[in-house]
Amino acid sequence: MNKSLVFNIWNLLAISFSSLPIGLIPKEIGNLNKLEILDLTDNYLSGHISSNVLNISTLTRLGLGYNDLSGPILPNIGSGLANLKELSLYSNNFTGKIPKSISNASKLTSLVLSLNKFSGIIPDVLGNLTNLIDLRLDGNDLNGLIPSTINKLQGLQRLDLSDNMLKGYVIEGLCQIRSLSALYLAHNVFSGLVPRCLENLTSLQMLDLSSNKLISCIPSSLWNIKDILMVDLSSNALNGTIPLEISSLRALILLNLSNNQISGNIPPTIGDLQTLQNLSLENNKLQGSIPESFGKMISMEFLDLSENYLSGVIPKSLESLVHLKYINLSYNLLYGEIPSGGPFRNFTAESFVMNEDLCGKPQLRVKPCKKGSGHRSTKGMLLIKCLLPVMLAVIIVASCIIFLKHKRNDVNDSTNRDLLNLEMLARVSYYELLQGTNGFDECNFLGQGSFGSVYKGILSSGQMVAVKVFNLNLEEASRSFDTECIAICNLRHRNLVKIISSCSNVDFKSLIMEFMPNGSLERWLYSHNYCLDILQRLNIMIDIASALEYLHHGSSTPIVHCDIKPSNVLLDEEMVAHLSDFGISKLLGEEKLQIYTKTFATAGYMAPEYGSEGLVSMKGDVYSYGIMLMEVFTRKKSIDDMFVEGLSLKCWVSKSTPHSIINILDANLLQGDHQIGNTLLHISSIFELALNCSTDLPETRMNMADVVVSLKNIKAMFM
Ligand SMILES: *[C@@H]1O[C@H](CO)[C@@H](O)[C@H](O)[C@H]1NC(C)=O
Ligand SMILES: *[C@@H]1O[C@H](CO)[C@@H](O)[C@H](O)[C@H]1NC(C)=O
Ligand SMILES: *[C@@H]1O[C@H](CO)[C@@H](O)[C@H](O)[C@H]1NC(C)=O
Ligand SMILES: *[C@@H]1O[C@H](CO)[C@@H](O)[C@H](O)[C@H]1NC(C)=O
Ligand SMILES: *[C@@H]1O[C@H](CO)[C@@H](O)[C@H](O)[C@H]1NC(C)=O
Ligand SMILES: *[C@@H]1O[C@H](CO)[C@@H](O)[C@H](O)[C@H]1NC(C)=O
Ligand SMILES: *[C@@H]1O[C@H](CO)[C@@H](O)[C@H](O)[C@H]1NC(C)=O
Ligand SMILES: *[C@@H]1O[C@H](CO)[C@@H](O)[C@H](O)[C@H]1NC(C)=O
Ligand SMILES: *[C@@H]1O[C@H](CO)[C@@H](O)[C@H](O)[C@H]1NC(C)=O
Ligand SMILES: *[C@@H]1O[C@H](CO)[C@@H](O)[C@H](O)[C@H]1NC(C)=O
Repeated sequence: MNKSLVFNIWNLLAISFSSLPIGLIPKEIGNLNKLEILDLTDNYLSGHISSNVLNISTLTRLGLGYNDLSGPILPNIGSGLANLKELSLYSNNFTGKIPKSISNASKLTSLVLSLNKFSGIIPDVLGNLTNLIDLRLDGNDLNGLIPSTINKLQGLQRLDLSDNMLKGYVIEGLCQIRSLSALYLAHNVFSGLVPRCLENLTSLQMLDLSSNKLISCIPSSLWNIKDILMVDLSSNALNGTIPLEISSLRALILLNLSNNQISGNIPPTIGDLQTLQNLSLENNKLQGSIPESFGKMISMEFLDLSENYLSGVIPKSLESLVHLKYINLSYNLLYGEIPSGGPFRNFTAESFVMNEDLCGKPQLRVKPCKKGSGHRSTKGMLLIKCLLPVMLAVIIVASCIIFLKHKRNDVNDSTNRDLLNLEMLARVSYYELLQGTNGFDECNFLGQGSFGSVYKGILSSGQMVAVKVFNLNLEEASRSFDTECIAICNLRHRNLVKIISSCSNVDFKSLIMEFMPNGSLERWLYSHNYCLDILQRLNIMIDIASALEYLHHGSSTPIVHCDIKPSNVLLDEEMVAHLSDFGISKLLGEEKLQIYTKTFATAGYMAPEYGSEGLVSMKGDVYSYGIMLMEVFTRKKSIDDMFVEGLSLKCWVSKSTPHSIINILDANLLQGDHQIGNTLLHISSIFELALNCSTDLPETRMNMADVVVSLKNIKAMFM
């Protein structure tokens, strides 16, 4: 099209181009002194706007949006635009301040300066544009406060100040603009409270205050704006709870309260929001279960409840949400069966990651559901039902074997044949062990060590002891006996199980050890009758770290335990932990800091270099210790069913530290905790320490002396 052709038509009333002109706005346009509409939206115009253009007093609409225009707009804009009603300059590169003279365009109803580079403050005189219906200054570099004169804009319906650097309060003056139906203040640095008076904006439909620095709770008055359609208060620092009254928002389509500190339960009344399509509550501190009534929110398309502390089962009623396209329940404490009907047919594993104990289809990367399972209590019952008969059987068989052995052996040759000369140790004879009035007749099977069985016995002195009888059919076991004795018979440490004596002849080898009435750490961790609190677990781990520090650094010949795991940690009457089972431990010669071995430690706790090369060093113990530290606070065994195909306990912990601790932590530890935030902080330091112990490269692992110091510091802070 020929430019001059157009601009020679002096009587033109309206010009509207789209996708044609390139270059500068022709000066001659200023001569079109009857022009009412100049719409050059969506072209490739560049350069400054000439003063001529802004001096056409007949113009009612000026649209220059979506071009490449730049530079400041003239300081006298407005003076020559007495009839202008709509000014739209969005999406250009205009810079500089919004000139005060704009207030001279007093007939303006719509002022759209969005998506430019206007800077400075919003001028007070905007308050003089009392005909404004639509004011959009979003997407600029404006700073300063919302001008207090804003309340003079009594006809304003939309106010968009999003994406600037505005600060100060969301002023109460806004509540006086009764006509307001859309208020967008997102992505600024507004602080203080969400004003209570917003309830007076009875026409409000859209409220977006997201990504600011608003604090304190959401005022209950907000839930009185009955016809509101969209509420986005996400990414602030709001706390408090979601009230029952939320159900009065009968037209609500979108509710976004994500990334705040909102706590408490999700009220069941939320189910009354039958128009709600998008609900984002992720990354808050919500607790309790997902209400059954969620199934009533029939318009729901998008539901994000991830990163909360929600527990319980996923209600099957969600299957009836036929429009649901997205769900995210990840990073919660949910357990039980994942529903499989309705929209759940299409959801993937990403919707359910990091929960406590979910089960369902294999493609959701959760364990399969067992019939009637899902609840911990039933699982526990099952365990007891299965294990009890097994344990009874073992006790009976063990008693028989011992009884037979005792018949066969000559009593006399026993004491003379001790293989090891353990002078400092109390002498306990085979006879005393087996024939003493209170001896093995009353024995109790305690468990299975690496190379034999452990029984409870009572010496003639009345002292309770644990007797470890080595299984002599295994060549390894015999060697293990010698090792264990050499390793610890001469050691004395508060946190090592004390050997009282040994007893050995050709076909009977046993170690008589201090009896630990509280059994193993493993029993405490996985039993449903006991629960160790955080401090107890911390103390136990400090005890074991001290034992290892002593073994590694406290004796002239360093000793590597090689089999650190919860079943080898025993607890005495006072719940002080003692390290036991030195059956495969290794003495390191003076200059040898590592040796090779063929006896294998327990899978799951074994350092990588130990498993692949048989390389034994103190760092291997540190690795196992780190894994055990994770296990103690997650209550998940490194060989748990959930750890398959690349996911290991270590990697699970590492992914969730420090921000999602809540999801990996043993949930028992948070029951009745009123300072969850604080607790999580300390636990996160524990997991960090554990990860530093279990690095893949032995050189980068901590040493036990530093571990003891760090753990003691954590404990001090915890108290
Ligand atoms: C604006 O137009 C008036 C006449 O309508 C004229 O006197 C004045 O000089 C013009 N101003 C600019 C900046 O062009
Ligand atoms: C603004 O200017 C920059 C370069 O200074 C350019 O990359 C960008 O595309 C321009 N934006 C608009 C909307 O013209
Ligand atoms: C408004 O226009 C008048 C003259 O047209 C001018 O004197 C005055 O300074 C203008 N106001 C602003 C704020 O620029
Ligand atoms: C704006 O209004 C105030 C009175 O509310 C008046 O004093 C002032 O002159 C006006 N400014 C402009 C530029 O019209
Ligand atoms: C709403 O407006 C009325 C009168 O206009 C006022 O009395 C009341 O305090 C306002 N509500 C709030 C919460 O500010
Ligand atoms: C909510 O936050 C405010 C200020 O940040 C604080 O004073 C108040 O105690 C918090 N309330 C709750 C329930 O955490
Ligand atoms: C809710 O807000 C967050 C952040 O402010 C955003 O990432 C998310 O997309 C929003 N969700 C919806 C449904 O609008
Ligand atoms: C609501 O969720 C749908 C996805 O189902 C999405 O397409 C839409 O943009 C969301 N609406 C808002 C306002 O975020
Ligand atoms: C699953 O997705 C397919 C297409 O991606 C769609 O046709 C089907 O309706 C969806 N099924 C459900 C139950 O949402
Ligand atoms: C759910 O949220 C988590 C955490 O924010 C994220 O890792 C995961 O990818 C999300 N799932 C889906 C399906 O988007």
